[in-house]
Amino acid sequence: AAPILVAIDGPAGSGKSSVSRAAAVRLGFGILDTGAAYRSLAWTATELGVDLDDAAAVAAILDDWEYRITLRGEQRVTVRVPGADPETDPADVTAAIRAHAVSGLVSRVSKHPEVRDRLNAMFRGIVAASGLPGVVIEGRDITTVVAPDAPVRILMTASAEVRARRRAGELAGLSHEQVLADIAARDAKDALVVDFFTPAPGVTLVDTSDLDFEQSVQAVVDIVRAVQ
Ligand code: C5P
Repeated sequence: AAPILVAIDGPAGSGKSSVSRAAAVRLGFGILDTGAAYRSLAWTATELGVDLDDAAAVAAILDDWEYRITLRGEQRVTVRVPGADPETDPADVTAAIRAHAVSGLVSRVSKHPEVRDRLNAMFRGIVAASGLPGVVIEGRDITTVVAPDAPVRILMTASAEVRARRRAGELAGLSHEQVLADIAARDAKDALVVDFFTPAPGVTLVDTSDLDFEQSVQAVVDIVRAVQ
C-alpha cells in the first residue's frame, strides 16, 4: 500500500525540521527533508562551477545526478556528481549542505520552476519506493504542490523573533541580529516562489511560538492520530 503522507511546510527556524523528525519517529514513519535536496543541488552546482542563476544549466545537472537520503535513523545524504572522480564518488554531503555558505545559495537554485518540477517528481518517487507505512515530508510547498492530497497537511510557523532565537542556538558564532537578518533575507527570496506563510485551504496551522519542542511534536502527532 502507498504510505500515509504527512505534509509539513514552514519557514526557516519554525521548528519544522526537528519537530517533523521527532514526530515521524513517534509515529513509526519515515521523514523526507526536501530542503536537503535543494541544498545538495546547490552544493553540486557549486562543485561543478555551474552558474546557479542559469535555470537550464542547473536543471541539466539533474539528468545525471544520483541523490540518496535516508528516511529513517540518522540523516545521511549522498550525491553522485556527473563526471566526478570515482574515488570520491558518491560524496557524503550530510554535513557540507548545512554550511552557512550553502544556506545563502540555495534560493538561487530553488527559484527555477523546471528544477522544482523535477525535484518534486524525485520526491514522489522516493516516497513511493520507501516501503514504509507512512512518510512525513517537510519543506515549503509540500502541502500545496508536492502532496496536496495528503491526508494530513500542516503549516508550521513561529514569530520571526522566536525563529531567529532557535536558529542562533544552532549556528554558533553568529549574532542574534545576523541570524535574524539572514532568515528574513532567505524567507523573502523563497517566498517569491512559494507562499509558506499562509495556510492553503484545508491546511492546519500550528504556531509553535509559545510551544516548547515536546509540545510541538505532540501537536503534530495528535493531528495525525486524529485522521488515522
Ligand atoms: O528547509 P531548508 O531550510 O533546509 O531549505 C533550504 C532551502 O531549500 C530553502 O531556503 C528553499 O530555498 C529551498 N526549499 C524549497 N522548497 C522546499 C524545501 C526547500 O524551495 N520544499
